[in-house]
Amino acid sequence: MIFHMISFLFQTLPTEHTVIWFYFLAIKGKDMRLDNIKHVSVIGAGRMGSQISELLSRLGGYPVILWDLEDELLQRGLSSIRARLEKHLLKKEKISQDEYEKILGRIETTTELFHAAYRADFVVEAVVENLQVKKGIFQRLDEHAPAHAVLASNTSALNITEIGSLTKRRDRVVGMHFFNPVAVMKLVEVVRGPLTSEDTVNVTCALAKRLGKEPVVCKDFSFGFIANRAYRAMRDEALQMVWERVASPEDIDKAMKLGYALPVGPLELGDMVGSWEIAVASEDSIVKETGKRLHPLIKMMVRAGYPGGPGRKGIYDFWKEVFSKW
Ligand SMILES: NC(=O)c1ccc[n+]([C@@H]2O[C@H](COP(=O)([O-])OP(=O)(O)OC[C@H]3O[C@@H](n4cnc5c(N)ncnc54)[C@H](O)[C@@H]3O)[C@@H](O)[C@H]2O)c1
Repeated sequence: MIFHMISFLFQTLPTEHTVIWFYFLAIKGKDMRLDNIKHVSVIGAGRMGSQISELLSRLGGYPVILWDLEDELLQRGLSSIRARLEKHLLKKEKISQDEYEKILGRIETTTELFHAAYRADFVVEAVVENLQVKKGIFQRLDEHAPAHAVLASNTSALNITEIGSLTKRRDRVVGMHFFNPVAVMKLVEVVRGPLTSEDTVNVTCALAKRLGKEPVVCKDFSFGFIANRAYRAMRDEALQMVWERVASPEDIDKAMKLGYALPVGPLELGDMVGSWEIAVASEDSIVKETGKRLHPLIKMMVRAGYPGGPGRKGIYDFWKEVFSKW
């Protein structure tokens, strides 16, 4: 039917209109293949955004435009990229000085969202985990990015459909959830909302594979998607055992590691990534989306100054210094 309508239009329209139609169809058809991704942008130069930019340049070979609010934040992001490349690759002679320069040379920075968006074929957003902020960013990206561009969010748990709700390209909004540290972790969750198209999912999976990752597709109504949701359940049960003083965090982790061949226990992982602070910051979403309250031990630790995260005290210290004696 559509084919007949288009042929009819071609027969009836003057030549210049036919050319415009062909152009329109070419642009529409150009969008959703990996080969058509020539320019990528990353929004947010923080912990995740800087690592994702690095990967897109190093393994994807893409020219990357990295955006953040201020130049100082961009410079910090670039310094972290340089430091990682030097420590893990250059000094170990896994890349040459020339490759190092090229990886950095492909990453351009900007504080203008228009500049990051206007020629991007694929955008990965990695700003702060706040629904209103992400919705606003997606709305502005939608205004400036080419019609074919895919807008992906690296959100850890927020709803993809809601993030893209102010855009006019809801079929091209998708979750692309990398794990930290990005260079090491193989998983990318590709999160599909009810309006996300098959093509968008496919091109996002293809891009993840090009970056050396294993994509796993999941639906966007699962809070925490797959891995974080399952981890949260395990972690909360481990927290409850600490709360009941069944055993120390160290012994609970030891049992989980030896009993289930886990490389890291759920509680030490929480300390490593700062899960306690992240959980408190996302409390409203957790309650709204799961109907479950935060475990009281999480709030207690954060309030007492044990939020977890690199170089900061977490549940292991809280147990030794406070909770086991309380
Ligand atoms: N850190 C992790 O382990 C991890 C893992 C997977 C996914 N994520 C997700 O990645 C995203 C970024 O996390 P991160 O750890 O890189 O955070 P981060 O705090 O290191 O970086 C966030 C960036 O957002 C920018 N930002 C802050 N407020 C803003 C605003 N109002 N408008 C626009 N930009 C703003 C900041 O300048 C900063 O560069 C979040 O959605 C997070 O849930 C994080």
